[in-house]
Amino acid sequence: TNVDVSTLVDSDGGMIDRSIYTDRGIYGQEMRRVFARSWLFLAHESQFRKPGDFFTTFMGEDPVIVTMDKTKSIRAYLNSCRHRGVRLCRADAGATKMFTCTYHGWSFDLAGALQSVPNETAYPEDFDRKDWSLIDVPSLATYKGLIFGNWDPNAEPLEEALGDMRYYMDAMLDRDPEGTEVMGGVMKWELEGNWKLAAEQFATDWYHVNMSHASALMVMSPTGRGPKADIVATPGRQFVAPNGHGAGFPTHPKSRFDAGPVHEYYDYPALRERLGDAAVEGPMTTGHATVFPNFSYLPVNGSIRVWHPKGPDKIEVWAWILVDKSMPDDVKDAQRLYNLRTFGPSGIFEADDGENWSEVQAISHGFVTNSVPLNFQMGMGSEREDGVYPGQTSELYSDAAGRSFYRHWAGLMNEPAWHENTGK
Ligand code: FES
Repeated sequence: TNVDVSTLVDSDGGMIDRSIYTDRGIYGQEMRRVFARSWLFLAHESQFRKPGDFFTTFMGEDPVIVTMDKTKSIRAYLNSCRHRGVRLCRADAGATKMFTCTYHGWSFDLAGALQSVPNETAYPEDFDRKDWSLIDVPSLATYKGLIFGNWDPNAEPLEEALGDMRYYMDAMLDRDPEGTEVMGGVMKWELEGNWKLAAEQFATDWYHVNMSHASALMVMSPTGRGPKADIVATPGRQFVAPNGHGAGFPTHPKSRFDAGPVHEYYDYPALRERLGDAAVEGPMTTGHATVFPNFSYLPVNGSIRVWHPKGPDKIEVWAWILVDKSMPDDVKDAQRLYNLRTFGPSGIFEADDGENWSEVQAISHGFVTNSVPLNFQMGMGSEREDGVYPGQTSELYSDAAGRSFYRHWAGLMNEPAWHENTGK
């Protein structure tokens, strides 16, 4: 059964009921109505160089294999054997010609077709391998190197679903005309907390930076005196997408990368020429963003990540280091080290955020606690078209993108998805 979440999410009034983070039934509904119908980040194109390269990940809690087939097309399949359902591919990534099940030995090719069945003659005569191909992820699309999948066979095109969010992604993805690539493997760690706490923070919350990260900013500050004045008081904008995406960024005429060699590498006048002053002074080098529902990124840190839901109370963070393809190796390495120092699994900023989310989640199951709503009222009504940044934007210090994130989430939760034939 589905729950009507309209009473739990008051986007107009800026209040959220905590049961949306803790309730197991709501979590199951999210799997059916949010994750089974949204574009979900799978992998970066640079992870696939030749046919047979593969990477295993999740869409919601559904395991998927992403691979390059013989025609060099990216394909994705449910990572579950069609025989008795065991996880077909257990490796995180690699290269193969076939996916062979470790249980009874059924083998599937790169196009997902069942190619061989041990003791096949023991099956009835009408057993046809063609009926037992891997379950395809029906909608796949790539945006500037980022591969997304959607279980909805008639999903709206990815670019339309991204809408104006593309501008804020381009500020990171178009810095190099050659594009981006990921460096090294995928860093994975677990956190106590609901996936929305992380996704929503990356969409909307610059507010926490000065308090949560005060010590980290002090350590990183050249003067050692704490948060730089331009971080605390800086003007900036927050992008508020109707379909739940969000991005926040300070605006600064002297936009720069924090890692010295990266800063020195960039030709800022050329970037201004190509991307425009507004992008260079805002979303290119600073801030945070979420592509609804659970893909987030940090341009200056070169971090792209997925908040994988693992039950209502747990997140598995999967983070990649993103660099420009044309960067010399020493600059890529400087970006990698800056990423690890700040937002790697033991990065000083990352640890601050994880601690906050866990502290929200750990107490939210209390009966009284769970009935006390959370406040999302900052910057109420401040969204507007500012004539500079695409779409609706709000002040930097605002919950506008958070309210929009939850408005979109509630809309999906209350509407039957493509796989449902009946009403609510
Ligand atoms: Fe895969 Fe039996 S479960 S071959």
